[in-house]
Amino acid sequence: MRNRHFEVSPTSGALGAFIEGVDLSEPLDDDEVVKLRNALNAHGVIFFRDQKLTPEQHIAFAERFGPIDINRFFKAAPGYPQIAEVRKEPEQKTNIGGGWHTDHSYDQIPALGSVLLARETPTRGGDTVFACMNRAYEALSDGLKKTLESLRAVHSSRHVFGANSAYVKGASDRLGNSEAATQDAEHPVVLRHPESGKKILYVNSAFTTHFVDWTPQESAPLLEYLYKHAARAEFQCRFQWQEGSIAFWDNRSTWHYAVNDYHGERRLMHRVTIAGGPLE
Ligand code: SIN
Repeated sequence: MRNRHFEVSPTSGALGAFIEGVDLSEPLDDDEVVKLRNALNAHGVIFFRDQKLTPEQHIAFAERFGPIDINRFFKAAPGYPQIAEVRKEPEQKTNIGGGWHTDHSYDQIPALGSVLLARETPTRGGDTVFACMNRAYEALSDGLKKTLESLRAVHSSRHVFGANSAYVKGASDRLGNSEAATQDAEHPVVLRHPESGKKILYVNSAFTTHFVDWTPQESAPLLEYLYKHAARAEFQCRFQWQEGSIAFWDNRSTWHYAVNDYHGERRLMHRVTIAGGPLE
């Protein structure tokens, strides 16, 4: 067995770590997969530089962590249904993922995580910001934690990927299949992460519509409070992309936000999403 020594260097006080000393174009052995999974569980998102993977190598890397969860709504990279294209052209204004969210929370079994690989980056801007939902949960008062632990929330794809969505209209060349936007899922508002055991605040402003047994109007003030609280700068890290950079994030324990500050330039990313397990 090879014995590659990864360096794991945290990028902020909240979440994120750079992984150095690994070439992801080579197949990973089981020991390496365990080390990377431990780093992902500890830091929420792990970053790699200079990984100029072929699409096949990108898919093979992701498959070491679980089966691929093919996104229904994103256009696929030509010839690779497993790879969702996250693209913005110089003449376009709407970007994909330009608001706080966690991927696939509208599914009954949300994705474990995503492996995003930068193919083409703007000369400046186009960063991605991540936020740690364990830190966000832990910073709440004991009283609010107790209330939230008794609640479940509904998450939906309808208003985001359905035909009437402004988001779909703004990115109609890159998003499609809006008739498939029929998913609604209920999840606990506070999860215990299936691997790290840490408690996670699991609502997000993109997909969560309301608390179960509350109306959307009754839910809105508390959800707005939680969104503002969880987006505090001290729970975040920010990643600057270069061609060949990879971010591999945990969809349960983090939010992410693709910053749309590079109008007039092209940004092309390839995303492979990994299936998760039931959340409770
Ligand atoms: C996404 O939301 O999956 C895309 C994030 C990014 O392009 O930075």
